[in-house]
Formats: sequence, structure tokens, C-alpha cells
Amino acid sequence: MTTFRDGLFDGKVAFVAGGTSGINLGIARRFAALGAKVAVCGRDPEKAARAAGEIGTDALGMSADVRDYGAIRGALEQARSDFGPLDFVVAGAAGNFLAPALGMSANAFKTVVDIDLLGTFNTFRACHDLLNTPASLIAITAGQAEQAMALQIHACAAKAGVNQVIRTLAIEWGPDVRVNGISPGPIDGTEGMARLAPNPEMRAAHEHRIPAKRWGEIDEIADAATFLCSSAASYITGTILDVDGGSSVGDAGRMDIAKGLA
Ligand code: COA
Ligand code: NAP
Repeated sequence: MTTFRDGLFDGKVAFVAGGTSGINLGIARRFAALGAKVAVCGRDPEKAARAAGEIGTDALGMSADVRDYGAIRGALEQARSDFGPLDFVVAGAAGNFLAPALGMSANAFKTVVDIDLLGTFNTFRACHDLLNTPASLIAITAGQAEQAMALQIHACAAKAGVNQVIRTLAIEWGPDVRVNGISPGPIDGTEGMARLAPNPEMRAAHEHRIPAKRWGEIDEIADAATFLCSSAASYITGTILDVDGGSSVGDAGRMDIAKGLA
């Protein structure tokens, strides 16, 4: 599953907000496999308990809504008290759905901005005095931060803000706390892509535009998170790492047009 050495994260403690499913659960699972004690949290307590059970005996599953500062602070404090100071914190909770701006109420827009952007701020703001430095924080952002996408005005606005939270905290909290982002491309088997590409035609259209010509795997995002939390990334902070098969570079679908002109 990984080229990282066994025991790389022995003695480390990780907290993954939104770590009860999908990409973030993959990161939590990987950190645990490399030796870390891992706490995951989401809104649904049963889902959190299932995720912790899946990760292993040393895992903690907690329920907290990242929009509620007191709730996420409580979960972080519990993780600190059960496992010790936190070495790694991942802010990955997010919500998304496709809707045109004119089909979106103010509350619909606010809901996604609150989960993604305020939730990232809350998670990071609340963890700072619980960290074991040098610490590594990672926010899970998305290509929507830089590339405007129709039907996702809420996620575009929210993730653009997340990128600036990453960069601002890298400045304010360095050198002891490194703050980076991972921007995944479309990842197979996730709730996010089930919502954004709900049929084979939409999937094919997405794949066509990606230089790598395929969707990514959850494990490939876990690889990037492992790298960013390892000493191999000790001089990296304030960076958004695109793990997207080249999607952010440009539209590979246009190669077909270019080939026709050659
Ligand atoms: N189109 C338009 N508006 C929508 C919508 C859709 N598909 N889905 C929800 N909304 C609106 C609701 O109508 C509501 O607005 P209103 O009060 O004006 O009617 C608002 O969004 C909030 O909805 P609610 O269901 O109360 O929010 P929630 O906090 O319970 O759930 C969501 C948050 C909507 C983001 C939900 O989809 C969710 O929990 N997502 C998590 C999983 C996920 O999105 N994973 C992918 C991550 S990339
Ligand atoms: P997912 O499986 O739906 O995971 C979302 C997680 O966040 C769940 O654990 C969910 O648990 C939790 N969550 C949602 N709202 C929350 C809230 N208000 N408070 C606390 N926890 C909350 O999603 P995914 O598709 O794997 O996406 C994970 C991350 O990757 C997101 O940040 C997303 O924007 C990013 N991303 C995904 C893709 C992709 O291809 N899927 C691409 C680019 C970026 P509960 O529902 O129990 O709360």
C-alpha cells in the first residue's frame, strides 16, 4: 500500500476532522498503519465509531460539528487528553452539492462556506495550544479554489478561502507549525465524486480532461498527507500540493483539438 517505512509515525498523535469517511478516513487509516494514534471526528456519532473501529484499537471516534467552535474544541481536547499533544491535524470536513447560484438560497451558500471555510479556521484555531511542536497541519482544499466551476459557487468561494487560511497561518504560526494544503483531483469511490459526477458520461468527461486520464485513488492522497507530515517535508509550509493527475495545469481534453490541427 505504501512506500513509506513501517513505524514512520510511531509515537505520533493525529486528529482528522471529517475523518469518518472517504479521503480523510484514508488519511487517518494510513497514519494509524504507520504507527500514529488517531482521532477522527464527524457529525454522526455512529459513523465515527464505525470509522474508529475500522482504523484499529488505538483509534478514537468522536462527534463534533466543525461549524461549532466549542464542539470541535471539545473533541480536540479529548484527543489531547486520551492520546497526548497533537503532532498532526487534518481539516478535511466539507459539504458540496451541485446547484446553480439562482437555485441556491443564502442559507445553502452559507452552509457550505461554514463547513469548509469556517470549519477549517475553527479546527486550526482550536488546536493550536494542544499541539506538540514541530507540528504539521493539513487542510484538504480543492481545484475549485483556483478554477471557477459552474454549479459550485459555494464550494469555489469556500475553498478559495481555505487556501488563504493555509497561507496566512503558515506565516503566523511558523516556524514551529507547518501549515499546508492538499488539493485532490477527482478521487474514485468518494461521496464527493458521487455528487459531482453521478453517471458514467460525467465520469468520462472528467477523465478526458485530466492529463493522467484517470481518477485518483484515496491512497494517493494518503501518500501526499504522509509526505507532508514526515520530516521529508520539513522545509515545506504554506504550500498547496495538487494531487490531481495534472488537472490544475490545464484541460487535457483540448489536446484532441490540438492534435487535429497538427
Ligand atoms: N440544492 C440546493 N440547495 C440545497 C441542496 C441542493 N442539492 N442541498 C441542500 N441545500 C440547501 C437546503 O435547502 C438548505 O437551505 P434552506 O434552509 O434555504 O432550505 C441549506 O442547503 C442547508 O441544508 P441542510 O440540509 O440543512 O444542511 P446540513 O448542514 O444538514 O447538510 C449539506 C450540509 C447540505 C452540505 C449536506 O449535503 C451534507 O451533509 N454534506 C456532507 C457530505 C458531502 O457533501 N460530501 C462531499 C464533500 S466534497
Ligand atoms: P466525505 O466522504 O463526504 O467526507 C466528509 C467528511 O466530513 C465526513 O467524515 C463527514 O462526516 C464530515 N463532515 C461533513 N460535514 C461536517 C461538519 N459540519 N462537521 C464535522 N464533520 C463534517 O467526502 P470526500 O469526498 O471524501 O471529501 C473529503 C475532502 O476532500 C473534502 O474536504 C473535499 O472537499 C475534498 N475533496 C474531495 C474530492 C473528491 O474527489 N472526493 C476532490 C477534491 C477535494 P459526517 O457526515 O458524519 O459529518
